[in-house]
Order: sequence, then C-alpha cells, then structure tokens
Amino acid sequence: MIKGFIFDLDGVIVDTAKYHFLAWKQLADSLHIEFTETQNEQLKGISREKSLEKILNWGNTQVSTAEFNKLMDQKNKVYLSYIEKMDTSDILPDIPRVLNFLKQNKQAIALGSASKNAKHILKKTHLLEMFDVIIDGTSVAKAKPNPEVFLAAAKGLNILPKNCIVFEDAESGIEAANAAKMTSIGIGHPEILHNANDIFTDFTKISNEYLNNFISK
Ligand code: BG6
Ligand code: MG
Repeated sequence: MIKGFIFDLDGVIVDTAKYHFLAWKQLADSLHIEFTETQNEQLKGISREKSLEKILNWGNTQVSTAEFNKLMDQKNKVYLSYIEKMDTSDILPDIPRVLNFLKQNKQAIALGSASKNAKHILKKTHLLEMFDVIIDGTSVAKAKPNPEVFLAAAKGLNILPKNCIVFEDAESGIEAANAAKMTSIGIGHPEILHNANDIFTDFTKISNEYLNNFISK
C-alpha cells in the first residue's frame, strides 16, 4: 500500500538545528537575554516569528513591530551565513538510504517543515527532487504543534492522514503529528520525544525492514 512519509527538515534531514540555536543565541546575547540549550528545545519546530516572541518574553523585553522585524532579519542573516557552505555532506546519516528505499518502493514522500529556508537547503543538499510535495514556512500559517503543516502535506500527497508517517526531532512536531492522527516517529532523545509512537536516536537505527512494516500493512 502507498503510505505518505513526511519528513521534518531541521534536525531530521540535515543537522541545521545547531545553526538555528547558534543564530538565536547570538541574537539573545546582543539583547542581553539569557538563552540556554534547554530553552532552545522549545524553539525547535516552531516558526521564526514564534521563536523570537518566546525569546523576548523570556527576557521580559518589548520591542516595536519595526524592531521585531529587524531582529527576525538579523537572526536569519546569521543563520544563512551558517548554512552558506552546506552541501550533500551535511545530510544526516542514512537519510539517502531511507529516501531511496521509499522511492524504490513507490511510496509518497513529503517535507513538512516550519522553515522558510527549506527549499534553499534542499537545493544546496541536492535533495529537492526526492520530495513529491514540499510544505514549508512559506505555505502554512499555523506553527507546530498545530497539525496544519502535516495535514497540508497529506493533502498534497493525496493520502489519508492515518496512512502517513511523520519523522520529527521536535516535541512540537510530535504533538502536531499526533494531533493530525498520523504515526509519529521521534528522531532524538526519548526524554524529549516521549509522546511519539516510536523513537530512534537517528536514521541508522531505522532499518528497511522497519520501514517495510508500514508499507506492507
Ligand atoms: C524549524 C526549526 O524547522 O524552522 C526552527 O526547527 C526554526 O528552529 C523554524 O525557527 C523556522 O525556520 P526559518 O528558517 O524560517 O527561520
Ligand atoms: Mg526539526
């Protein structure tokens, strides 16, 4: 049976989660706002706008709309400078094997990311053509944990949500997949992703046999 396999981007396909953190950290430092890696977990999966709102809240800092937009731009410029040199070597281990296996088995593949830089990154890593549907920060309004991004991906693939499998590294992403009534697979730490239907540290632990279980059902 054809299933919909939906991948988050940052922290699932490429190791960009660390660059988002470094760019936010630089911005927070410039505003004299304390910002830790633990707090950063809450920013994973959510939009640029929502992330800045949270950081400013943590710092009890209010800014004008113009300043807010300037700060978002500033963060993105730093982030873009980090991802400038990205190429295929930045694809996380075993992602090509998993994508190729799904393609060979004629499965439907989508991207479900909050990032407005998603297509840019997929081009740089030569992965763009692997995806049948791309839903990113430019196509949805509601940030994860809202299920909008994954429901739009399922719709684009023309596959029922219950027949979709989502790979996510963010707590908000697992919540979004669960809210969409999809199978949620956490990629990362069990203490953060405990609401997922299944959890793996990375894709090297996800065998073709495991993927085949979804396809053969
Ligand atoms: C998500 C990341 O994929 O995209 C977040 O997990 C990030 O950390 C969000 O803030 C928005 O990304 P961008 O590239 O549009 O700033
Ligand atoms: Mg992510």
